[in-house]
Amino acid sequence: MRVLVTGGAGFIGSHIVELLVERGDEVTVVDNLSTGDHSRLSRDVQLIEKDIRAHDLTDLFRSIRPEAIIHQAAQVDVAKSMSEPLTDGTVNVMGTLNVVDAAVKCGAWKIVFASSCAVYGETSEEKITETHPIRPISLYGASKCLGEWYLDWYSRIYEIEASVLRYSNVYGPRQGVKGEGGVVSIFTRQLLAGETPVIFGDGKQTRDFVFVKDVAEANVRALSSGLGTICNISTGTTTTVQRLCELLQIETGNRGEISYQAERSGDIRHSCLDNTKAKEFLGWDPVTTLRKGLEETVSFFSNGGEAGG
Ligand SMILES: NC(=O)c1ccc[n+]([C@@H]2O[C@H](COP(=O)([O-])OP(=O)(O)OC[C@H]3O[C@@H](n4cnc5c(N)ncnc54)[C@H](O)[C@@H]3O)[C@@H](O)[C@H]2O)c1
Repeated sequence: MRVLVTGGAGFIGSHIVELLVERGDEVTVVDNLSTGDHSRLSRDVQLIEKDIRAHDLTDLFRSIRPEAIIHQAAQVDVAKSMSEPLTDGTVNVMGTLNVVDAAVKCGAWKIVFASSCAVYGETSEEKITETHPIRPISLYGASKCLGEWYLDWYSRIYEIEASVLRYSNVYGPRQGVKGEGGVVSIFTRQLLAGETPVIFGDGKQTRDFVFVKDVAEANVRALSSGLGTICNISTGTTTTVQRLCELLQIETGNRGEISYQAERSGDIRHSCLDNTKAKEFLGWDPVTTLRKGLEETVSFFSNGGEAGG
């Protein structure tokens, strides 16, 4: 299959690309390399350095003639979405609209969109299902909602199938420090450097950490199943940030002190997504345990991984 991956040089995108190449798909990546890195891609992959907001994106997509598009490119920094709302909006809202519009015009039959648990906002529910009300508390979450709605509208009007994957907190090798699951990468880097890890808040806030290779598998499955659905991509289990830090202390061998600072605005207190629908519609299961995923992540960063972020 000819697949175009926007943001394919990014953390999650590069794992998706790797899986597609393994399957024998013909992959083209469109990425402006703002947080992505071409060294994450193998030589079999064509990388086109381009911004998803470009006015000639349709011409580019037409020249590639993808059958399917996996849209990962985004401004992923939740705090920045509040301090620079227009930047966030132009990339995540206008950029996504540009990608969806170009996808239709170039004749692609399928689009998969990376959405987020940030669309749900704060909730008292133990496990959030896809029918939960959409009430984002960050502008990043709001921009992801708009992306979902554009996909929905285009898929109802035109001949394109759309799948929305709402990721919980993704972690794993190659992760930068800015994204939603960035806390794993931040703690790992701090602990390996012999620094004191910093927890914002009391550490009792919970997250549903899903391993990046499992997320990549969900995207690939969404190309051929779960048509037109919205699915949470998560483990359906929670870990407190405090516990995460302790597990990483064990894994890195740095058992020093932990520092605590004031909570940040836009941060959700409790987050756990029900993944029953993804299991049913995509035949997908998150197979990597947290211990195994953290081991792989620490091993990646301690072996030189990526220094930047
Ligand atoms: N990491 C998480 O925990 C998480 C959780 C929920 C949703 N998501 C979503 O998953 C997707 C991938 O996130 P990630 O964590 O891999 O982040 P990332 O920053 O590593 O990847 C984003 C990629 O998009 C590219 N990009 C950014 N702006 C662009 C633009 N204007 N034009 C072209 N390319 C551009 C970047 O260079 C980068 O390669 C994003 O859509 C993000 O919102 C991530």
